[in-house]
Amino acid sequence: MTNLIDGRAVAEQIHAETAQRIAALKGRGVQAGLAFVRVGEDPASRVYVGMKEKTSDRLGLKSTTTVLPTATTQAELLTLIARLNNDAAVHGILVQAPLPAHIDQAVIFAAVSPAKDVDGFHPVNVGKLMLGDTTGFIPCTPAGVHELLIRSGVKITGAEVVVLGRGNIVGKPMTAILCQKARYADATVTLCHSRTRDVGAHCRRADIIIAAMGVAHFVTADMVRPGAVVMDVGVNRIADPTSKSGSRLVGDVDFAAVQPIAGRITPNPGGVGPMTIAMLMRNTVQAAELATR
Ligand code: GUN
Repeated sequence: MTNLIDGRAVAEQIHAETAQRIAALKGRGVQAGLAFVRVGEDPASRVYVGMKEKTSDRLGLKSTTTVLPTATTQAELLTLIARLNNDAAVHGILVQAPLPAHIDQAVIFAAVSPAKDVDGFHPVNVGKLMLGDTTGFIPCTPAGVHELLIRSGVKITGAEVVVLGRGNIVGKPMTAILCQKARYADATVTLCHSRTRDVGAHCRRADIIIAAMGVAHFVTADMVRPGAVVMDVGVNRIADPTSKSGSRLVGDVDFAAVQPIAGRITPNPGGVGPMTIAMLMRNTVQAAELATR
């Protein structure tokens, strides 16, 4: 039997549930709406927003995308966000990161109404997650990893989990999700980062490793205890002279070496990525339901 965790298949299950909720809203005259904002022409952001738009269409969400030039000022972006905050047809707002360097990302995320913050990046939602208050929105990638663990039957309660990477988008919220006193949580979580002394020693103790540090093939076979569950969040572009484009995308895990040892493992692509979009769609329908109760 394969040890692969099929994120695409699980994401499709969730999409089916979300599409039903979107249809139910339509049945009572509500068209759920999601606004994307992209600033500049970062190639990866173009691809990500394009994929999210396509999935929105497929599920029956009405999405709108505003693309602003790189030279857009912070004040101009704040004006757009204020307009979207006040637009009753918009239930969710997603400002794609990274933003150009002259814009303070934290200021932008804090300007999105917490009720429309389907990214879960507003300080109110970050605080709710930390407090175990389940009325907020949880960032889509760590929420997707969590849901994938749950739906794959991985035991989280009491597990030793190592999270690699302390970013605000994945590592920190992932840690907060798994350490809560709650069903499908109650884990002992170790957060490792670039200044951790012996990452391998921490990893070898782990029942579950969640790799989100953004270093290609960082997790090698010697770091994984036989039978451990390995979730690969990384998206790294590396040179590949054999490919037409001269490069290819790989995860934070040396998949070929780790798969034979791992109990369960996410492929990459096809693991965590599809789950991120599934959580975004679910957060958006939730926002629309709450706004129109
Ligand atoms: N950039 C990378 N991941 C994300 C995400 O989950 N949301 C947004 N808005 N930007 C991102």
